[in-house]
Amino acid sequence: MSKLIISGRKRLLGDVTVQGAKNSALPILAAAVICGGESVIYNCPRLSDTEAMLQTLRYLGCKTRRSSGTVLIQNDGLSRSDVPDTLMRKTRGSVVLLGAVLAAEGKAKICLPGGCDIGIRPIDIHIKALRKLGAVIKERRGCLDCRAPHGLKGCEIALPFPSVGATEDIMLAACTASGETVITNAAREPEICDLADFLNRCGAKIQGAGESTIVIDGVSRLSGRDHAIIPDRIVAATLISCAAVTGGEITLKGVIRSHLSSVIPVFEDAGCTFALSGNELKVTAPERLRSMKLVRTMPYPGFPTDAQAPVLAAASVADGTTVFIENIFENRYRHAAELARMGADIRAEGKFAIVEGVPGLYGAAVEATDLRGAAALVAAGLCAEGKTEISGVKYLERGYEDFEQVLTSLGADIVKL
Ligand code: UD1
Repeated sequence: MSKLIISGRKRLLGDVTVQGAKNSALPILAAAVICGGESVIYNCPRLSDTEAMLQTLRYLGCKTRRSSGTVLIQNDGLSRSDVPDTLMRKTRGSVVLLGAVLAAEGKAKICLPGGCDIGIRPIDIHIKALRKLGAVIKERRGCLDCRAPHGLKGCEIALPFPSVGATEDIMLAACTASGETVITNAAREPEICDLADFLNRCGAKIQGAGESTIVIDGVSRLSGRDHAIIPDRIVAATLISCAAVTGGEITLKGVIRSHLSSVIPVFEDAGCTFALSGNELKVTAPERLRSMKLVRTMPYPGFPTDAQAPVLAAASVADGTTVFIENIFENRYRHAAELARMGADIRAEGKFAIVEGVPGLYGAAVEATDLRGAAALVAAGLCAEGKTEISGVKYLERGYEDFEQVLTSLGADIVKL
């Protein structure tokens, strides 16, 4: 079990290139299941989640090869249509294989997905939508047995909530369905657009990605193409949090500013200044942050739930009180109790967290229990007095590529043991 040891109070300074987005990479890798021939994915982060997805693709019969950030997937036809529990449990993102394998094989036997424990995370919206597309789905012993003996048929699907995973799952299932599929109340996240861009390059006919209504005209087949994954806006938000708590000045390279349009104003409230030049974003933090106005997580383009934890860590050392409202997941303040061990003053109850900023945190032994919570503990450790020892590093490795090296290059004192 590795640990991170951080000696805090080092100002972060310098330039860093933001890695490719995990939440784009996972559905795009899964999409290779419905794309014949070779797909070449650039800027694919090397994470335990993406490696688990590649392992699953190999299990299904694809060949995969990685050379640093480039991943090649060769799909000459799948050899099986089941994904066992051991593989599905490795990542939540694997849930989109349901639609993809079903579309490719006309059947899929998929166990329920794993992922971080941040709420109940049901998949009822996925199942209802796939049934509407014509799938017959039975649940047995934690696995879903899906069949579409007569193929999938386009239809209108109104989502009760703009679920990111369900929107992606439907897109993957509908690309090669017969006729037109219309998704209303679709998720609008940039990762949805990235998946649509890849699929359209492969021959799909998807319109409206990034808007609430997505229209998919079914085509008979898709052929693999190359595609570069967008930069990870949550990693960017995490790095901004790390710079902010250390009074730092860093330049993020390769960002898309519009993807951060709900995050930047929160840090501006706190006294940070931003300068954009092309796709480089420079953030300069004040000596001490001010409290932020209400931070309310919402589906995109609202403030992302995935950035809540690292931003909450920043608020914990700001001057004043910040209120957070978590609207997406029910159990997403588990980092608050660990931050309290470092001297933070946070009251979290249900959707709400009230953060009374303290002048400083002190190092302690803390445990990460989910991916973004782990990122919050890293940000806290960077500004704490003395040594912080973080266990549960495997969660961080789900979403942050070589994070300790990235932070070391910016002047942090952080080692992995
Ligand atoms: C994706 C992201 C995750 C991010 C989340 C919200 C990936 C791999 N993960 O997760 O990092 O935090 O979007 O931006 O892209 N829900 C249901 N029934 C369903 C599906 C979802 O009730 O069938 C609920 C969930 O429990 C949650 C909410 O809808 O409360 C949002 O979930 P969703 O947008 O589906 O998140 P994920 O796709 O799991």
